[in-house]
Amino acid sequence: MPRAFRGPARPRERAGACSARGRLGARHRARARARATVQQGHLVDGSRQQGGLPATPVTPAPAAATVGSVTPRARLFGTVATAYAEHRPGYPAAAAAWALEPVADRAGLHVLDLGAGTGKLTEAVLRHAEVTAVDPDPAMLVELRARVPRARAAAGTAEGIPLPGASVDAVVCGQAWHWFDLPRALPEIVRVLRPGGVLAVVRNDEDPDNRLMNEFLDADALSAREGGHDHGWTPPSHEAFGAVERRRFPNPHPTDVDSTIARLGTFSWLLAADPGERGAFERRLRAYLAGHPETASGEFVLPLVTTVLRALRR
Ligand SMILES: C[S@@+](CC[C@H](N)C(=O)[O-])C[C@H]1O[C@@H](n2cnc3c(N)ncnc32)[C@H](O)[C@@H]1O
Repeated sequence: MPRAFRGPARPRERAGACSARGRLGARHRARARARATVQQGHLVDGSRQQGGLPATPVTPAPAAATVGSVTPRARLFGTVATAYAEHRPGYPAAAAAWALEPVADRAGLHVLDLGAGTGKLTEAVLRHAEVTAVDPDPAMLVELRARVPRARAAAGTAEGIPLPGASVDAVVCGQAWHWFDLPRALPEIVRVLRPGGVLAVVRNDEDPDNRLMNEFLDADALSAREGGHDHGWTPPSHEAFGAVERRRFPNPHPTDVDSTIARLGTFSWLLAADPGERGAFERRLRAYLAGHPETASGEFVLPLVTTVLRALRR
């Protein structure tokens, strides 16, 4: 039986399951989210935010999706695509259901998973809809096609979505929002979404209330290096979208020492480090996990948390 561990509340949240490290403002917001209350099996803070940027007219699909908009750091994921598929967490069914709830009663629901990677979120939304999974990285798409064959996989980017206008009921995006060039990606998302469709931005993080892992990652200088665009995880801000709703879901992740090390090995800040730094980081993490009875050996359960931001296209 894997052991679950939970320490005392920690002073600040870190964005742990991907590469987005919170900037100061993001950390304040994250702390506020960390105070969310548990309701009916999930965490809810009910925060809402209004859209802001000028509207962009609906345009036809670009002639070809371009990978030129993918940052050099974001291209590193493909170098560890198999490890990513094996060791990164998936997403709770309840999170996918809540993301799609506004369009759940539509016939022939069509969902676009943008920045789909190896198909972690694709798998979760496939239970509810037909899915087109788009990612610029060929190696990630190889994993996705092998692991989630029922999805339609396509090469493309958020800034050049290879789908016609008004062709999807929902756009979901797991651990990828911070890699998008939003001034170019948001008009594309608006273009492919049908009126009344939903945009859901989804992410996995270490549970901010869990001391283990967080105390290590917060103290470790290497993990403080950020990746992605400056906007970080800013909610969708575009006048085509209504208020942003936010909900959090527990996402317990069974793991062990080797898998935890392998999971962190797929974070962009570690991929971008030189081999010496990566080796030293692994030794520090191994020593840290060995130093705690909950994680010293065998299986344990990391209490990750999935956050979903959703907004309706007007
Ligand atoms: C951290 S992975 C997330 C993969 C998957 N969605 C998940 O939840 O595990 C980030 C993914 O975003 C993709 N990506 C990076 N820049 C992108 C862009 N501009 N447009 C679309 N996808 C992008 C990468 O290729 C990578 O597969």
